[in-house]
Amino acid sequence: MLFYRFNWEGDNKVIALDDISLNVRAGEFVAIVGPSGSGKSTFLSIAGALLSPSKGRLRLNGEDITTLSPKELTRVRLEKIGFVFQSSNLVPYLSVRDQLLLLSELIGKRDKTTVKKADELLSHLGLGHRAGHFPEALSGGERQRVAIARSLMNDPEIILADEPTASLDSKRGRDVVEMLANEVKSRIKQPSW
Ligand SMILES: Nc1ncnc2c1ncn2[C@@H]1O[C@H](COP(=O)(O)OP(=O)(O)OP(=O)(O)O)[C@@H](O)[C@H]1O
Ligand SMILES: [Mg+2]
Repeated sequence: MLFYRFNWEGDNKVIALDDISLNVRAGEFVAIVGPSGSGKSTFLSIAGALLSPSKGRLRLNGEDITTLSPKELTRVRLEKIGFVFQSSNLVPYLSVRDQLLLLSELIGKRDKTTVKKADELLSHLGLGHRAGHFPEALSGGERQRVAIARSLMNDPEIILADEPTASLDSKRGRDVVEMLANEVKSRIKQPSW
């Protein structure tokens, strides 16, 4: 896979990804490490169907998503991908529970089942007692846990996290990584044979 980035003037082409190939199997927990500017965020944006590769293809659970239209890519993101960003990207004026329900609200699917699911995820991640609170009342680690819970709301086939621990101290950072790893382990779909 190859990806070119262009600056605003369009006269300066940066090769952000050069000959990248990666195969991640179900249940794998993969960390991508590299110096600043080496293309990690660019790669995650492509893996998350936010950007399309300049050359090459991307398959998600067997489906080639390289040739999909922007509308179809939105569907893929909605149904199959969970994102956790470096800063938790919570909406300041929504309660913790509503952060999880925002997507269901937007696609008109907020109902008893989704509310129950949000509350279950929150208690599972140790945030049940915080469901009615706003982000400003949470610690950095708690915010990241909300972001993880939010990324799991659509039962994604893949969770992508771009430096989810960058704003945390090492102990809380480790907790967040452990939590993500545990979620991956507990969600592995059993093979059908
Ligand atoms: N919007 C953009 N327009 C043009 N070039 C960009 C843009 N975003 C990133 N780049 C360039 O693409 C390359 C890869 O950037 P990227 O953000 O993927 O790196 P990174 O590995 O995530 O870095 P960091 O560890 O600092 O987050 C860099 O050379 C960067 O300058
Ligand atoms: Mg980055």
